[in-house]
This record gives sequence, C-alpha cells and structure tokens, in this order.
Amino acid sequence: MKVARTVAEVREQLREPRRRGARIGLVPTMGALHDGHRSLLDAARDSCEVVVMSLFVNPSQFDAADDLARYPRDESADAAVAADAGVDLLFAPTTTELFPPGFDSWVDPGALGESLEGAARPGHFRGVATVCTKLFSIVGPDAAYFGEKDAQQVAVIRQVVRDLDLPLEIVAMPTIRDASGLALSSRNRFLSPQEHATALALPRALNAGQAAHHAGADAVVAARAVLDAESGLSVDYVEMAEFGAPTLVAAIRVGATRLIDNVRLDG
Ligand code: PAJ
Repeated sequence: MKVARTVAEVREQLREPRRRGARIGLVPTMGALHDGHRSLLDAARDSCEVVVMSLFVNPSQFDAADDLARYPRDESADAAVAADAGVDLLFAPTTTELFPPGFDSWVDPGALGESLEGAARPGHFRGVATVCTKLFSIVGPDAAYFGEKDAQQVAVIRQVVRDLDLPLEIVAMPTIRDASGLALSSRNRFLSPQEHATALALPRALNAGQAAHHAGADAVVAARAVLDAESGLSVDYVEMAEFGAPTLVAAIRVGATRLIDNVRLDG
C-alpha cells in the first residue's frame, strides 16, 4: 500500500492506472476504522481495480459543540486495517494541504444540509460537501463508497454530485452493527457498559417504528415511545425523512455521546 500526503502525490500515483482505464474506487474516512468502514473498503475492492482510501479528520465539518480535539486518531492502526483490506493508496493529508491559508470556496448543500443533523450541527454538511468535492476532484474516482448509517450525508453527497455534474457513481452500503444491534461508530468507544446498554434503545426504537409502519401505524410515534420509556438518554429528534426512500431517522444523547441511526421504511 502506497501512502500519499499531498494532492500532487495522489495525482502522480493515479496517472498510470487512469491512463489504462482502470476503475478507481474512493472510500472517504476520518479514520478510527471499524467494521463499518471495512465493509466499504471490501465493496470497493470487489468492484474496482484501484482502491483509494482517504484518512482526514476534516475540521470544517466539526462545530463548537463537537469536540474536534476529542476525535480518536491512530494513523498506524488505520493504515494496518486499510492494508489488510487491500487498499492500494492511502491518502492522509495534513489540514493545510487541503485547507491552506486563504482557502475560502465552499460547497453549500442548501436546505437539505440545514435539517436534522444540519440543524443540530450548523455548517456540518457544508464542511462534508466541500471536503468530499475536493476529494472527488483530487482522486477522480469512478465510484465513491459511503455508509447508509449516515443517511443524510449520503443524500447530501448525491445532491452535490447531481447538481455539480460530477462524473462518478455514489455507492451506499448497509449499516454494520455490533452483536447487540448498535450501529458501529467511532463514538461507541466513549460509551460505558451501562451507556452502551442504554443506547440499545436506539436500534430497538427504529425496529419498533419499522414494525409499526408495516402494520399501518405511525413509525415516529412508535419509535418515540420506545425512546421515552428509556431513562438515561435524551432524544434530539425522531422523524421521517425522504432520503431517496422514506427513512426513519433518530439522534439521541447518552451521557456526553451523541448517536445517530436510521432505518428505511420501503423494504
Ligand atoms: P467517517 O465517520 O469516518 O465515516 C466514513 C464512512 O464510513 C461514511 O461513509 C460512513 O457513513 C461510513 N460508516 C460509518 N459507520 C458505519 C457503519 N456502522 N456501517 C456502515 N458504514 C459506516 O463520514 C465521515 O467519516 C466523513 O463525514 C467523511 C465522509 C469522510 C467526510 O469527511
């Protein structure tokens, strides 16, 4: 596995595969890799000749409430996971490489970026949309892989790709969960065993919502009832969203940790 630190190195590494028409897949990440990331890497490996993984904790998508300093960083552990997954090129730039002094051009996803996660974290999706647009421009992938775990992020990226006519395919992969049903997240490591048990109300609520929907009842009411019955958590939102398909989305706080999850209701 090659490691590139600069935009120029990435372009140089990809010159030859691009010339011979190799299919290039990109998996954007912020590191702290787990089996959710691994599923994206595996999907890219299965359908692309060249797999590029980016590893960049993007300051522009964190707001004051999010603790950028607290975000887990372990490049050598992440590089080992990437190498094991068959990544060809790891792009791990510095912040000044992607956002040098004077940087001031942004991709703003509009109303879609202001609801739900965007309302809870102002500016978040502008940061996500901008860094992903830059990564698409730097790597020039045929396909980029994202997780349905972050359903609104997938919807934002699809909108940006459509609106800016970017020449790549967006592939969304199912949410990977731990054995107890909690969606894998780099934030799960902050949960105490008690908090982890409390957090299980989130997938339970979404399942209850899905079951209610299939029975002709209100998914949001059913999901909220499960969350309200659980002490030790607070509900940020439980709502229906139209992210390519009707999707029940929820965000909760357990202690200092904020968790999101969702389930599609068209299945
Ligand atoms: P990060 O949180 O590192 O996630 C990288 C990718 O892994 C995202 O597409 C995310 O949806 C996916 N992912 C996370 N948990 C998952 C799970 N349990 N199952 C399946 N996929 C999962 O999302 C970001 O980074 C950033 O916003 C990024 C897109 C890299 C832009 O900075």
